[in-house]
Amino acid sequence: MNVFHIVGARPNFIKVAPVMNALKTRKHVVQTLIHTGQHYDANMSDVFFEQLGIPAPNVNLAVGSGSPAWQTAEIMTRLEPVLLDGKPDVALVYGDVNSTVAAALVGAKLGVRVGHVEAGLRSFDRTMPEEINRLVTDQLADMLFTPSEDGDINLQKEGIPAERIRVGNVMIDSLVRLLPAAQRQNRNRLPERYALVTLHRPANVDDGEILKRILQSLLEVSQDLSVIFPAHPRTRKRIADFGLQADQLQILDPLSYLEFLGMQSRATVVITDSGGIQEETTYLGVPCLTLRENTERPVTVSLGTNVLVGRDPEKLCSELSRVLAGNAKKGTIPPLWDGHAGERIAALLAG
Ligand code: UD1
Repeated sequence: MNVFHIVGARPNFIKVAPVMNALKTRKHVVQTLIHTGQHYDANMSDVFFEQLGIPAPNVNLAVGSGSPAWQTAEIMTRLEPVLLDGKPDVALVYGDVNSTVAAALVGAKLGVRVGHVEAGLRSFDRTMPEEINRLVTDQLADMLFTPSEDGDINLQKEGIPAERIRVGNVMIDSLVRLLPAAQRQNRNRLPERYALVTLHRPANVDDGEILKRILQSLLEVSQDLSVIFPAHPRTRKRIADFGLQADQLQILDPLSYLEFLGMQSRATVVITDSGGIQEETTYLGVPCLTLRENTERPVTVSLGTNVLVGRDPEKLCSELSRVLAGNAKKGTIPPLWDGHAGERIAALLAG
């Protein structure tokens, strides 16, 4: 059985690792890993491969950055001959990034069976590029591996007839495996209490006024608590382009998987607009204040530690006060977020 995995961006790497690991034990499976090159900086890509123990990609399409349409089209053009040549029995795509939808389109048009890992998530906000990627990918996929019940319900409502299978959360598989190693990282260099911040959504960072207001709110947070802010390259570039002042915030380069996970696990609070971090904090039981009006991961709010504060500085401050007073929202771990989702996918694919 010939399985192709197509990945391209940072969160994809964390998701592919457990699936590849689980399939490795099936002797009749040959795996090919294709990196689209959507993320190419060493600290956005290479370090994740090393720490997660992912083999070097068999093919790198080296697409690089560009507008969404250009990037998607370029990945499609470069991937098509690779799939034609390799004739996979199944192509697995991960998450909701441009590489995901591009690969699903190419696979579906070539008649290759497409499996979507992390299917069914919906923010119901079509201004998010990821929401468009999710909708299209799920329409095209033959096998839909969902992380939570809301994913099954969304797919059913959309009338998607393909196989829907709840397998749990592959991102949590990587977390469970590497948390002990992560907790041995940079133990002595961290303040006792701190807020860990990430920010990269176009809706938050591509508009100068909005980004300025968020940075001001973070400055206010820093009056009460040290702020550690590993910035995505997109965010750093926008801060510079808009000439914004952020000197009082500790802005760092993107961190490796182990460093970031270690910092998350010890944070007093995490402030973010990432999807995956809402899930990781829920698993870790760390309070998470999400700078978005909606989430495609509602289970992190209904069961977990996540609170949506949108872009309202007052809500951020009041929720932060709750955390600092020791009254943070308590959560539980959603069903099937148990470290074995990759194993369940492998069993469904290859017995
Ligand atoms: C992408 C995903 C997003 C995911 C995020 C994780 C889409 C639509 N979005 O957003 O869902 O949460 O990855 O990081 O696919 N850049 C670099 N070096 C890199 C990669 C990017 O400098 O290695 C810069 C470039 O200036 C680029 C910008 O970041 O133009 C945006 O990169 P892109 O991959 O288009 O989207 P992300 O914002 O990273």
